[in-house]
Order: sequence, then structure tokens, then C-alpha cells
Amino acid sequence: MAFVRVCGLTELEDGTPKRVELDGIPVSVVRTEGEVFAINDICSHANVSLSEGEVEDCSIECWLHGSSFDLRTGKPNGLPATRPVPVYPVQIQGDDVLVSVTQES
Ligand code: FES
Repeated sequence: MAFVRVCGLTELEDGTPKRVELDGIPVSVVRTEGEVFAINDICSHANVSLSEGEVEDCSIECWLHGSSFDLRTGKPNGLPATRPVPVYPVQIQGDDVLVSVTQES
């Protein structure tokens, strides 16, 4: 499992998702509740960027139809989305945030 540096920890504003691309996969990196999460940036309902949505209670909301996804599991908390979004393991090394997209967590 290859972890790749995506940004510095200090670049992440609490509750403000940052979109990055890893191996061509769009990933939303989110710092909230004292942790950092990485979730696939595309909503499982339609082709909408989750990083443009709001973060609340350890979930990220899709702005288009309002489904929110648990940042720990990727599972939708409500309709209309029914399928989970992949989430990825994160490592923090000093000020570096590393994500691995080769294995879903
Ligand atoms: S596109 Fe995300 S909930 Fe519909």
C-alpha cells in the first residue's frame, strides 16, 4: 500500500475539504474533529464533487441533493444516495498528510 503526500497538515483548514488527485482519482481530504480523512471526491449518486459540500458531524454533504457521507466509512446517511463512496487510509508524518488510494480502508 503506497502512501503519497497530498499536502501539509497546516494547509488543511478545519472543516474545509481540499480536493487532490492521486493516480487520477479525485480525493477530498478533510480535517475535522481532530482527525484527517480521505474520501473519494465524487458523490455516488451523480457526478458531483463532494469537496464543494459542507462538513458536519464527521460527514460530508453533497450540495446537489443533500445526501451526506460518513467520513470514516463512506456510507451515505440519507437518500437519495444509496451506495457508499470509497474512503482511504490516511497517515500523518510530522506536517505531512499522506493518503493511499491503492487500498480502500
Ligand atoms: S448528486 Fe450527490 S446526492 Fe445527488
